Amino acid sequence: MNPSNTSALMSQEPHIAAQLSGLEREGVVQRMFSSIARRYDLNNTILSFGLHHRWKRIACRIVAEAHPHQTIDIGSGTCDLPLMLVSEFPAIRRVMAVDLNASMLGVGMAKICKARSEDQIRCFRGSAESLSFRDNVFDAAMAGFCIRNVGHLDMVLQEIYRILKPGGQFICLEFSRPTTQWLRTFYDLYSLHILPWVGTWVAGDRTEVYRYLPLSIREFPDQDALADRMKRAGFNRVDYENLNGGIVAIHRAIK
Ligand SMILES: C[S@@+](CC[C@H](N)C(=O)[O-])C[C@H]1O[C@@H](n2cnc3c(N)ncnc32)[C@H](O)[C@@H]1O
Repeated sequence: MNPSNTSALMSQEPHIAAQLSGLEREGVVQRMFSSIARRYDLNNTILSFGLHHRWKRIACRIVAEAHPHQTIDIGSGTCDLPLMLVSEFPAIRRVMAVDLNASMLGVGMAKICKARSEDQIRCFRGSAESLSFRDNVFDAAMAGFCIRNVGHLDMVLQEIYRILKPGGQFICLEFSRPTTQWLRTFYDLYSLHILPWVGTWVAGDRTEVYRYLPLSIREFPDQDALADRMKRAGFNRVDYENLNGGIVAIHRAIK
């Protein structure tokens, strides 16, 4: 896709961006994350009313409970999850952080330096669709709010399956489908009308990423459909837990 097409998609039709797949989706999504990297953390806290810290802590606790030796975080962005893992959970000694976006990872690496966690977290720029790790290496893989944004969901799930050791677990934290009608109504109102306005203003964004966000959530498989996709990728024990009425879900899948 050429840059002018990308801009046209982002500025006029975020619902089209949310429906794209493959390299087209990757290009659009990556430009969005580059645009908001510096304000990404602040916006997460404002737009989720601080809840994203709680969601991330619950996911990290599940990862840490299994005392993994080798842990990878996919789509680390600004590295909240790797930092939380090594600073709050003594069971986690080392984490690989992988993301495609240099701007997001740049913010993450500055946070890692500030926390003096360079010895525990190694950052790699790379694609979740083709991870540059051997088969059966990791005891645990996690992904927070990443796999909704990738170009090829099934490829990513297969890659995560491939790099996990037999018995290793994949913990996926992702926006999902509210389970009750009243919450869906309230959430639609908030995420379609208020969130884009606040997020765009705080980030000074011109890419429409905060209009893309709620639309991408609606395009993404719901809790049960995502569990099915994980099973199709080869995972044999898949379950999930809804957080805040299903606004977010944590899937756990065992290789
Ligand atoms: C919404 S952010 C989540 C960041 C972080 N995990 C968090 O929870 O705050 C999504 C991240 O996924 C990354 N991403 C999207 N597609 C990717 C891909 N194919 N491979 C690697 N990273 C990808 C983006 O660059 C972005 O940094």
